[in-house]
Amino acid sequence: MEIVIVGSGAREYSIGLALQQECRIDGIYFYPGNGATSKLGKNIQFANDKEFVDFAIKESIGLVIIGPEAPLVDGLADVLRENGILTFGPSAKAARLEGSKAYMKDFAKRYDIPTARFIQTQDYEEATKFIEDLNLPVVVKADGLCAGKGVIIAQSYEEAKLSVKEMLNGKSFGEAGKKVVVEEFLDGFELSVFAMCDGKDFIVLPPAQDHKRLLKGDEGPNTGGMGAYAPSPLANESLIEKIKNNIIKPTLEGMEKDGNPFIGVLFCGIMVVKDEPYLLEFNVRFGDPECEVLMPLFKRGLLDCLLGCAKQDLKNVSYELEEGYCVGVVAASKDYPYKSCKKELISIKNQSNEDCHISYAGVIKEGMELYASGGRILVAVGKGKSVREATNRAYEALKSVEFNGMQFREDIAYQALKLEEQ
Ligand code: AMP
Ligand code: GLY
Repeated sequence: MEIVIVGSGAREYSIGLALQQECRIDGIYFYPGNGATSKLGKNIQFANDKEFVDFAIKESIGLVIIGPEAPLVDGLADVLRENGILTFGPSAKAARLEGSKAYMKDFAKRYDIPTARFIQTQDYEEATKFIEDLNLPVVVKADGLCAGKGVIIAQSYEEAKLSVKEMLNGKSFGEAGKKVVVEEFLDGFELSVFAMCDGKDFIVLPPAQDHKRLLKGDEGPNTGGMGAYAPSPLANESLIEKIKNNIIKPTLEGMEKDGNPFIGVLFCGIMVVKDEPYLLEFNVRFGDPECEVLMPLFKRGLLDCLLGCAKQDLKNVSYELEEGYCVGVVAASKDYPYKSCKKELISIKNQSNEDCHISYAGVIKEGMELYASGGRILVAVGKGKSVREATNRAYEALKSVEFNGMQFREDIAYQALKLEEQ
């Protein structure tokens, strides 16, 4: 079978890399891919999604995996399914769980899913009244997609009100901010939990932890994620059971009841407060860089899981995960997250250890050379029996990479290492 992976980041690279070993796959296309995915398969470009769908029909593509949220929110999975193409990724209606925070919060309330107390509104006065009822800090969110930037943790009531004002008048996030969610601040630790879903049944992957801040010790500006690891020892089995029973199950049941069965990966952003999980946000896709550390943890059965979701028949799927840990360290360009770099030559020494590899994101290929071009350039990934071993291998792999202006965090997985080494 031939498959298509939609997207161009290290997330999509890592899915391709993991599926490359699958003997049932004859070829992988990346739409549009990046300068390194062309080594794993073939990059394809189309003027629009209609041309892509025609291509998928003509080539009898066996499975399309949609990586990023934007094409999901825009309904790419719907068009593919309408044309009989097996697709891993939710419909536009189901993707509203990520596309609209107001929809997600109302959904959580309707189905009794634990989440921070909130209102969603387009009215400044209503927002102000609610803000004054909350303790500080206050959380203000733009309703729509803002490339991960639409959340303000306001330290004063004045800041919260100003954030609401600038969202509602379109100044800070354009159309995406014309509705806001105001909610109470939850104080705990964060966890990313991924459930591969077929509309009814689901498989929970090992809990992961991202590092969103640019600098060591979780300082500096927010980014798309500077590194991740899984499984996180911060989550025990009873916590995962609570996440399954109180968050994932009622979500799948609710989505089905509403006529929008969820097919694809449900990314639950969780805040754990006093051992209780609260839903912070849903994403309707794999996290990036979380995906880069989850894919290597599949010992076998990844393709069956993806197909099982797409065919809405996960029940009989068998798969096996590795026992150990996986750590990924992002190498970003000099001015990330403020500016992308144009073109810097990447030099990579050969990797000798099979327990580490590089997943590529913002790279272009010219001749035989790879160039950094973008914000997050690549992720060095290491696997090991302990978090320490996996971390050492990831940093070892990173040592083999060089480009002008490369920056990375030196403390990825620090919370897990502290626990492990206690
Ligand atoms: P979101 O995009 O909704 O996950 O928000 C981005 C980040 O803001 C989260 O990963 C949290 O670190 C933080 N955040 C969002 N909502 C809350 C909340 N209610 N309480 C505390 N932190 C929050
Ligand atoms: N790593 C966070 C995200 O993909 O949204």
